[in-house]
Amino acid sequence: MTEVMEKDGLETARPDTEAVSQIVIENVWKVFGRDPKRVLGKNYRNLSKDEVQEKTGCIIGMRNINLEIKKGEFYILMGLSGSGKSTLIRNLIRLVNPTSGTIKVNGKNLTTMSHEQLLDFRRNNFGMVFQHYGLLPHLTVLDNAAYGLKVKGIPKGERYAKAMTTLETVGLKGWEDYYPGSLSGGMQQRVGLARALANDPEILLMDEPFSGLDPLIRRQMQDELVELQDKLQKTIVFVTHDLHEALKLGDRIAILRNGEVVQIGTPEEIVTQPADDYVQEFVRDASPAKVLTAGSIMEPAKELLYAWEGPKTALTLLNSKKRRAAFVVNKAHELLGVTGIKDLEKLLASEVKHRTIPASAIRKVTSVLPDTILEDLFPIVSQNQYPIPVVDEKNRLQGVVTTDQIFESISPPEEDEAAAEAETETETKAKAKAKSDEGGLV
Ligand SMILES: Nc1ncnc2c1ncn2[C@@H]1O[C@H](COP(=O)(O)OP(=O)(O)OP(=O)(O)O)[C@@H](O)[C@H]1O
Ligand SMILES: [Mg+2]
Repeated sequence: MTEVMEKDGLETARPDTEAVSQIVIENVWKVFGRDPKRVLGKNYRNLSKDEVQEKTGCIIGMRNINLEIKKGEFYILMGLSGSGKSTLIRNLIRLVNPTSGTIKVNGKNLTTMSHEQLLDFRRNNFGMVFQHYGLLPHLTVLDNAAYGLKVKGIPKGERYAKAMTTLETVGLKGWEDYYPGSLSGGMQQRVGLARALANDPEILLMDEPFSGLDPLIRRQMQDELVELQDKLQKTIVFVTHDLHEALKLGDRIAILRNGEVVQIGTPEEIVTQPADDYVQEFVRDASPAKVLTAGSIMEPAKELLYAWEGPKTALTLLNSKKRRAAFVVNKAHELLGVTGIKDLEKLLASEVKHRTIPASAIRKVTSVLPDTILEDLFPIVSQNQYPIPVVDEKNRLQGVVTTDQIFESISPPEEDEAAAEAETETETKAKAKAKSDEGGLV
């Protein structure tokens, strides 16, 4: 699933048979200015963006971009101002025409389409949301939401019905008859989103849609978008400057600099393996606790007790391994809980004989799914005297995460003082508490 960009811009994609690439961008350049194609010639193409500008007056917007966006993927474009994010996203619908290279969407080559074909293709496949909401002030919320459908020639009754549904989806039911001017920024952006969704496009393009909103509303909109995406499963290309937004929303992130892609990766890869100093600078404040997952740091449970082997065997095993307790699984490898020497001794001292370890001797434990981020493990380790078991959807034990593993994986290298300071108070407290609690198990 993961992809890493080589420094020279060549993409080394690992085969991924499950997901289908919906958008494929190959060798795309965009040069702004007079006679832009000459910049692609051998005299200029290897010069830096600044050198090209100095020598030719042309500005490189995109330099040899190669990337693939999968169906249903939430794909983030990030980079400093002027790095080419807007140029790239606008290229995807040819609002900006590439100077060279190809852009394919659902296997269709956009670069060779006629103007009419392109308009048609855009309307049928894409929804767009931009930073400045782009609402028409003299139209009501309902008419704004229905605008794209009107342009497509959908009859009034049908387009209003669809627009009403999408307004409801974005939480604006009851606001249809108002004008944009009487809505807050967040609400206006919801209208923008409703308009983009009204057409039920497969692909949503969003260029800094939340950057005009104040932080609280922005966070709320992000949460809503995450929820919406869970339901709708669109392919979303999303531009942002904000690392935290990128980490929260993105399945993958492409980082751009001077029109080039410098790294493509999952949030976890970007934060834990930044490709160079530029990316490092972006992720400096990011806590690995927000991106690393239980599944990525778990280890196999060292000792496991099998319920069907009975309490005696379990006790013998714990004694011989000098362990106070261990996790118990059944034949399907489902996690039943934890049992310890004391529980087993008590059980064996009673009159009733047990061939298997009974539920009464097994204590329930909190388990997590592999995709749980480490930050969400802190409250568990701080309350729990055991390592955290990681289970799949069917409750089958996959591995365990110990407090040490958690804190090792989020600790910065010693010389990195800036990162050390980023350890949050919660992390420190959870660490202290958990250290004092955990003992003897696994
Ligand atoms: N129409 C244009 N004419 C000339 N140069 C342009 C044009 N549009 C963009 N550029 C240049 O292309 C480069 C990339 O611009 P782009 O707008 O894509 O950056 P961005 O990453 O979206 O920045 P921001 O975060 O500020 O929105 C910049 O150097 C910009 O000056
Ligand atoms: Mg931009």
